[in-house]
Amino acid sequence: MVLPSSKNVKIRIKVVSTEHTNGLIGNVTSISNLNSEEVTDKPLASRMLDDPFVLFRTPSTGKVSILEDRCVHRQAPLSLGEIVGDNLQCGYHGLEYDCSGTCVRIPSQKKIPPGAAVRSYPCIEQQGFIHVWMGDPALSNTLDPYDFPFASHPEWQARYAHLHGRFDNRLLIDNLMDVTHLPFAHKSTIGTSGVAEQAIARTEHDGERVRITRFMENIAPAPAHIAVTGYSDNVDRWQVIEYTPPGFVWLQVGYSKAGTGLIQKICCWIVIRCISPCLRQITPPFIYG
Ligand code: FES
Ligand SMILES: [Fe+2]
Repeated sequence: MVLPSSKNVKIRIKVVSTEHTNGLIGNVTSISNLNSEEVTDKPLASRMLDDPFVLFRTPSTGKVSILEDRCVHRQAPLSLGEIVGDNLQCGYHGLEYDCSGTCVRIPSQKKIPPGAAVRSYPCIEQQGFIHVWMGDPALSNTLDPYDFPFASHPEWQARYAHLHGRFDNRLLIDNLMDVTHLPFAHKSTIGTSGVAEQAIARTEHDGERVRITRFMENIAPAPAHIAVTGYSDNVDRWQVIEYTPPGFVWLQVGYSKAGTGLIQKICCWIVIRCISPCLRQITPPFIYG
C-alpha cells in the first residue's frame, strides 16, 4: 500500500474481538485480542477460537507467554493464580508452571508426574500487538507476524483501542470493505452522498490481499470532517482499503481541496483493524449482494 508521508497523519489501531468465526481460520498466523501494553506480570485471561488463554510477562525476561488457562491438576483457571519468580502458580493447590507450560513444582509432593504440562501457544510481540499461533503446534515455525510498518514510526501518532462485538467476523470484514454504507449508517459523521454515488473505484488482488481504491472528486465534506478541520468547501476524497487474511484490514482515508487531487491535503487517517474471533461457533452464512 502506498502511504502518504506526513506528520499530520494519524493512525488508529483497533483490535476487534468478535464472538464468532466461519471456521476457516486454521494454520495461519492470528492475532491476540490483546494489545501489548495490556499484558503485565499479572496473569490475564483471554480467549481465541474457543481456547481459553492466560497471558503474562516473565519478570526476568519481559517476554510474553501464553498458556492454556486450565490447570492440569483440577482444571482451575491459571489466570486466577499469580507469578512466583518466573513461574505461573495455580491459585488452588499451588502447582507452578514455567513459561513453556511445564509443571516445575508441586508444593505438596516431591515427584512431578511425567507429562504434567499445559499447552503453550507460540507468540511474537511486535509493533504493539501479540501475534499468536493458533494452528498445528508442529507448524508454528511458520509464524510470520503481519507487518504494520507505520505503527511504530516516530512521525506517526498511533492510538490503540480494543472493541468487542457479538457478531461473525466476516460481517465486520464486509462492513470495512464496503464503504457505500457511509452516507446512510454514518450520516451525521463521515458519510455524504458522494461516497456512494461519485466514487471511481478499483479492486486489485495481490496474492491473498485484496485492495479497493476509491476516489471521489468535488464532493461535499462530511460533517465530522468540517467539525475537525473547519473546512466546509467541496473536497476530493479518497479511501484505500486493504484486507489480508485472516483478519487484518487497513483503511487509508483522507481528503484535499477540490480540484487539487492529492496535493493540498487537508487531513488523512489510517485505521487498522485486527479482527480476532473468540469462538469457533459457526453462524449461518449471510447473503452478499
Ligand atoms: S487445580 Fe491447580 S493446583 Fe490444583
Ligand atoms: Fe461503518
